[in-house]
Amino acid sequence: MIPWTQLGSAQIPNNGGELKFSQRGDEFSIRLSGIRGELMNSRLFNSEKVLAELGCAHLHFTDNAQVLVGGLGMGYTLAAALKAVSANSQVTVAELIPEVVVWNQGPLGNCAKNPLEDPRTKVHIGDVRALLKIRKPTFDAILLDVDNGPEGLTQKDNSSIYSPQGLEYIYKTLRPKGMVAIWSAGPDHQFTLRLKKAGFKAEDRVVRARPGKGSRHTIFLGRKP
Ligand SMILES: C[S@@+](CC[C@H](N)C(=O)[O-])C[C@H]1O[C@@H](n2cnc3c(N)ncnc32)[C@H](O)[C@@H]1O
Repeated sequence: MIPWTQLGSAQIPNNGGELKFSQRGDEFSIRLSGIRGELMNSRLFNSEKVLAELGCAHLHFTDNAQVLVGGLGMGYTLAAALKAVSANSQVTVAELIPEVVVWNQGPLGNCAKNPLEDPRTKVHIGDVRALLKIRKPTFDAILLDVDNGPEGLTQKDNSSIYSPQGLEYIYKTLRPKGMVAIWSAGPDHQFTLRLKKAGFKAEDRVVRARPGKGSRHTIFLGRKP
């Protein structure tokens, strides 16, 4: 068996620990230090891709669509969002950890076919929460995969995104008929209710980690009327 080789590491802000980036043959892994396990593996990306397909399904015929993706990870959600929108649209990807962007500019880029090189991609290095707080109708779709789900994981601070106030900000930052799509490792009935309370037409979908097999993930969808 080919051994893993560590290619890089990065500190997560606010004492969030360390990210470790490794390669084994053509497989890449980003792990969280300590016992918190694997954040992403390059072979498991179906639900990350479907997140963008569901979140951008209403944008196929939209001119100048504006999409926000948070965060970059291995680029699969970004690549699927670019595929879903028109040639004159823009997809802004917010990534908290600068090294993750550098890894995607290097060996990791091939996994999702180098979405950072697409001229429609705009990179925001920093916290996606700054863009969610714009509170003026700005984006037609907001695709969030920054955590394990509404419970948080990478950043404790991220839990504010899923709070009633966080959802109010997202609602205001979406354009009319805009969609928020949120990746989660599992269902959370309370969160679906919170989306509804915030004014969204909400539903959740179960999506497998690999097409037709693997772990069952949840994608929460909230449509602004
Ligand atoms: C699970 S990965 C995303 C995977 C991505 N959907 C893909 O297709 O590869 C989560 C990413 O979100 C980033 N992240 C975590 N919190 C963030 C925040 N508040 N703002 C921006 N990026 C964040 C992490 O550094 C990590 O790169």
